[in-house]
Amino acid sequence: PVLILLGPPGAGKGTQARMLEDAFGLVQLSTGDLLRGAVASGTEAGLAAKAVMEAGELVSDEIVIAVLKDRLGDDDTAKGVILDGFPRTTAQAEALDGLLASSGQKINAAISLEVEDDAMVERISGRYTCGNCGEGYHDSFKTPAVDGICDKCGGTEFKRRSDDNAETVRSRLEAYHAQTAPLIDFYQGRGVLKEVAAMGAIEEIAGKLNEIVAQAR
Ligand code: AP5
Ligand code: ZN
Repeated sequence: PVLILLGPPGAGKGTQARMLEDAFGLVQLSTGDLLRGAVASGTEAGLAAKAVMEAGELVSDEIVIAVLKDRLGDDDTAKGVILDGFPRTTAQAEALDGLLASSGQKINAAISLEVEDDAMVERISGRYTCGNCGEGYHDSFKTPAVDGICDKCGGTEFKRRSDDNAETVRSRLEAYHAQTAPLIDFYQGRGVLKEVAAMGAIEEIAGKLNEIVAQAR
């Protein structure tokens, strides 16, 4: 299946996508991760994206679509894909339709994580990830079982994102409401929208997503 995770910064898209990967053997594709990879390796797309990401604005459709196209293979869609943070504009949604149509695929569900903006600043400012495997953590909401050691891989190096500061988070929330929230109606119109209340505990939300994904397969 092809699944889309929609929601503002901090809604838990990455956290839930990784849990769905483990539960269903799906492939998570995050355009945020792909763009951060491009920035780190200094590709042309990365050079163009860096300042935009640091300002908390959306990278151009042209770059994002090219980066996704480059990565999305037929073997991924065969296993099943969770798109985390893509599409984020109507133009991206239309480009995705075209890409999927050319390989005979369609979107099974677009899951919108419904949260409150105020809580997102707290979630994002406490976030950090394992530098080795990328597992996500939070200073108060999700700490490793043994302090300083990643639950998943035993890694001991952790990192924080440069765009995870209170000021940039506000720009990212604004970009979400202005450019991405219209996709909720877009996918409602396609009959694939699933709205999930996502202010609860991580495991509770994972339970709701598992049900949706089990039905969508
Ligand atoms: P991207 O990397 O996609 O970031 P984002 O959308 O801002 O989302 P986040 O990764 O911040 O949040 P999340 O929803 O994954 O939350 P998480 O699970 O980590 O994009 C970054 C930038 O790249 C954009 O600003 C833009 O410039 C560019 N970009 C990317 N895609 C683009 C596109 N398609 N078009 C244009 N530009 C694009 O959770 C957050 C924290 O909260 C974690 O610490 C977690 O442990 C904790 N947490 C999670 N769930 C819960 C819960 N239920 N209760 C308590 N804590 C929780
Ligand atoms: Zn790890």
